[in-house]
Amino acid sequence: MKLAILGSGFIARFYADALVAQRRKDVITTVYSRTTANAKKFADDYKVPHYTDSLKECVEHNDVDAVIIALSNDMHLEAILACCAAGKHVLCTKPLGRNAKEALQMLRAVDKANIKGGYLEDLCYSPKFLKSLASIKSGSIGEVIWAKSRETHPGPHSDWFWDKEKSGGGAMIDLACHCVEISRNFIGKNIKPVEVMCWADTRVHPIEAEDNAIGLVKYENGAIGQFEVSWTFRGGMDLRDEVMGTEGTIWTNNFLRTGFEMFTSGKAGSYIAEKAESNSGWLFPVGDEVNELGYNHMFTDMFEAIENNRQPNENFYDGYIVNAVLDAAYLSATTKKWEPVNLEEWRGILEKKSTKEMASYDDDYYLIKEEVLPSGEKKFIVKNKKTGSIEKR
Ligand SMILES: NC(=O)c1ccc[n+]([C@@H]2O[C@H](COP(=O)([O-])OP(=O)(O)OC[C@H]3O[C@@H](n4cnc5c(N)ncnc54)[C@H](O)[C@@H]3O)[C@@H](O)[C@H]2O)c1
Repeated sequence: MKLAILGSGFIARFYADALVAQRRKDVITTVYSRTTANAKKFADDYKVPHYTDSLKECVEHNDVDAVIIALSNDMHLEAILACCAAGKHVLCTKPLGRNAKEALQMLRAVDKANIKGGYLEDLCYSPKFLKSLASIKSGSIGEVIWAKSRETHPGPHSDWFWDKEKSGGGAMIDLACHCVEISRNFIGKNIKPVEVMCWADTRVHPIEAEDNAIGLVKYENGAIGQFEVSWTFRGGMDLRDEVMGTEGTIWTNNFLRTGFEMFTSGKAGSYIAEKAESNSGWLFPVGDEVNELGYNHMFTDMFEAIENNRQPNENFYDGYIVNAVLDAAYLSATTKKWEPVNLEEWRGILEKKSTKEMASYDDDYYLIKEEVLPSGEKKFIVKNKKTGSIEKR
């Protein structure tokens, strides 16, 4: 795959690290950045043969099969439309749009241009996520009742994130886009998200947008997706998921506690991990950030999808659903009520109620709970199927 990268900032470098460092057969053939100096620096660092300060020239470059968008959120739409006009497959970083209206325009544009639109949601490709999802799909934890995802850190690294107009919001648009899509995968992508209740507030930073938020996303089958995000969390980047199913539980910790702990006096002052706030004392490095954050598996899926003429597992439709959920969350944060998720485009199951049957104790009683007590006694709590009375056996 011959690739163009639009942008030369933080995420563009993570993407290039995933593409170049592992000696993939895929190559970056051109890079665009607003300034020639930045484009050249990126090209030199990653041995990219062509660089330009013209977005159009980069997208239309002859040696490009697919374009990777690593630009600020306000630039995604313009860049995607340029790819559609040039008929180049496009892979866009998160969040897809600043709102669902923009995302829907992007989705319809790639569909009309008959190109693939990959949604670069890396956290839905981390090794722990992929294994968790496979376990859930095989039925290991039964029906998912509640899926919680948390991303908190001390705040982003570039000015435009903090400007509500350019980014589309604050911590929620930036981080909850990951959490919503993680929970949605665990609950089932075919199950419709129907309404959202959200608290959001600006607690610490002098900005208009929210720097903290918590939300509940209700799905049509009754499952709840929960997101917790912050731009004011101290101590690094906290990425954790918890899934509660009728037959099991999954907890993952992707970043701060990966089983790697290190103490240093700090003399070397080296890089520890993304958003780490300290480089001395006891630290929690991440072995291979690019892999742990999902970039390797993500690009593999994206390129295989293009080669095999299928949609990637994370695509523009998913990005649109996430934006629609976040629109409802922003509205709920102001009305303080459950707000519906408005989906002009829904490609999943039309109505999905919970299908779980109650476990029976015998013909006359449901089994509510069985437990072995410290004394060794086995206790059953049962419910009479006819009268509803709750009894002990
Ligand atoms: N885990 C992830 O998937 C992840 C992590 C970080 C950022 N992102 C996303 O990547 C995108 C870029 O974020 P970043 O962290 O790399 O930011 P950054 O500020 O480091 O880089 C942004 C890039 O966009 C360019 N840019 C900004 N405004 C522009 C304009 N008006 N015209 C042309 N170019 C412009 C900058 O020059 C730079 O090359 C955002 O959409 C962000 O949400 C994703």
